[in-house]
Parts: sequence; structure tokens; C-alpha cells
Amino acid sequence: VRTAAVIPAAGRGVRLGPGAPKALRALNGTPMLVHAVHAMAASRAVSLVVVVAPPDGSAEVKSMLDAHALPERTDVLVVPGGQSRQESVRLGLDALPPGYDIVLVHDAARPLVPVDTVDSVIEAVRGGAPAVVPAVPLADTVKEVEPAEVAGAAETVLATPVRARLRAVQTPQGFDRGTLVRAHESVTGEVTDDAGMVERLGLPVVVVPGHEEAFKVTRPLDLVLAEAVLARRRL
Ligand code: CTP
Ligand code: MG
Repeated sequence: VRTAAVIPAAGRGVRLGPGAPKALRALNGTPMLVHAVHAMAASRAVSLVVVVAPPDGSAEVKSMLDAHALPERTDVLVVPGGQSRQESVRLGLDALPPGYDIVLVHDAARPLVPVDTVDSVIEAVRGGAPAVVPAVPLADTVKEVEPAEVAGAAETVLATPVRARLRAVQTPQGFDRGTLVRAHESVTGEVTDDAGMVERLGLPVVVVPGHEEAFKVTRPLDLVLAEAVLARRRL
């Protein structure tokens, strides 16, 4: 069974602050997206990577990726993205050639996910799970709040879910292709990850261990951490 990875990379990166689109920002001199593509290509099972680029930046992304050698076994396609992450993933799925029956969806903003995590997601899909997420336990206690009615006013706590039962989910999330396509065709409304759409179809989502290095680069401090992780790997 052939496996493809779709990498949504079309976001602006508003929370990272002013600058180039997030996926094109450098980590130790190499664009985040290049790290993310290599993280997927590191798995021997992945034979195609579909990069969903900023809508006006596909040509730039294509030449950037051409400048960084990938393993012989890995093909790369670049397509323009959309207004939301969900739309970008769907555009990536639309570009998938036939023959790839397992699909990973991986955020460009998680450039440092280790190959063992990628492989355990693929393994679980091969084992028959329609959807698989890598996840880690939470360090912080999480509270559900009643949002303030006016900006800046105090929020009040509604509930405190039992932390031991909560997980922070990462990417790559892995899917049986037909299931993921069906989820994207039928689920509307706000979703923050792809597995959430499969849950709404009433199908089981299997959890495998994630990794602390698969954290999402979201705010400026995350860039500091990512560069420190890269420096540590070179030792
Ligand atoms: N993404 C995308 N298309 C969009 C929005 C997001 O492909 N229209 C991608 C991002 O490029 C990123 C992933 O979805 O790789 C996760 O999104 P997030 O971390 O929220 O990135 P941004 O949306 O770029 O950041 P922000 O929300 O701070 O603007
Ligand atoms: Mg976003």
C-alpha cells in the first residue's frame, strides 16, 4: 500500500509576528517547510509529498524545494492553498494521484517530528485504523471557561476536565484515504484537525504516542525552542 503525505503550508503565521509566511521562515538557515518535507520523506513508507503552498507562492516554494535534495524514492507535488487550513488540506487531497491508499496530513508548522512517530502512525493505519493521531499527555491543567462578554473583562471557569484523560494531539495524522476524502466532503463547520472530522462521521480514531519534538511552531518562543532542538541533534 502506497503512502502519501499532504503538508498544509499555506498559513500566514499571524501569531509568529510580522515576516514571511510561517512555512518559509528559516530554522537554523533552512526554511521550516523544508524541514517538514524531510521529516515526512525520512519515512521509507512515504513515496509522495504534496505541499500546499501559500496561494501566491507556489512557484517560489517549488524552486525552494528543488534546491534541497530528497531521497530518490520520494516525489514532491506543489499546489496552491486556500483561506483556511481545512480548505488547504482539501486542495492537497484533490491533487493526490490514484494509488495512494494511506494519507498522512502533516503541518508544515511541526518541522521536527521524528521519523519513529511518522512510522508508528503509518503502522496503525496499515493495521486497519481509519484514522490515527499521535498525542502526548498535558503538562498544564486545562479549564473550560465562559468567554468574557466584552474584550478584556474577566472570564469565569465552567469546568476542569480530568487532566489524566486529556491529550494534546499532533501531526502527522494518518488516514485511510477514502475515509479522509469522505470526511472532507461531508463535514462542515469549525474543525481544528482532520481526525476531528472523522470523529464526526462516527468512526474510531486511534491514538499512538506522539513526541515532544513534534510541537507546533506557533509563537516566537517556539522558534527559539526549534533552533535549540536542531542544535542538540547535531551533537
Ligand atoms: N495552513 C494552511 N492554510 C491556511 C491556514 C493554515 O495550509 N489557510 C497551515 C499552516 O501553514 C500550518 C498548519 O496549517 O502549517 C497549522 O496552522 P497554524 O499553526 O495555525 O499556522 P498559521 O495559520 O499559518 O498560523 P496563525 O494561525 O498564527 O496565522
Ligand atoms: Mg492558523
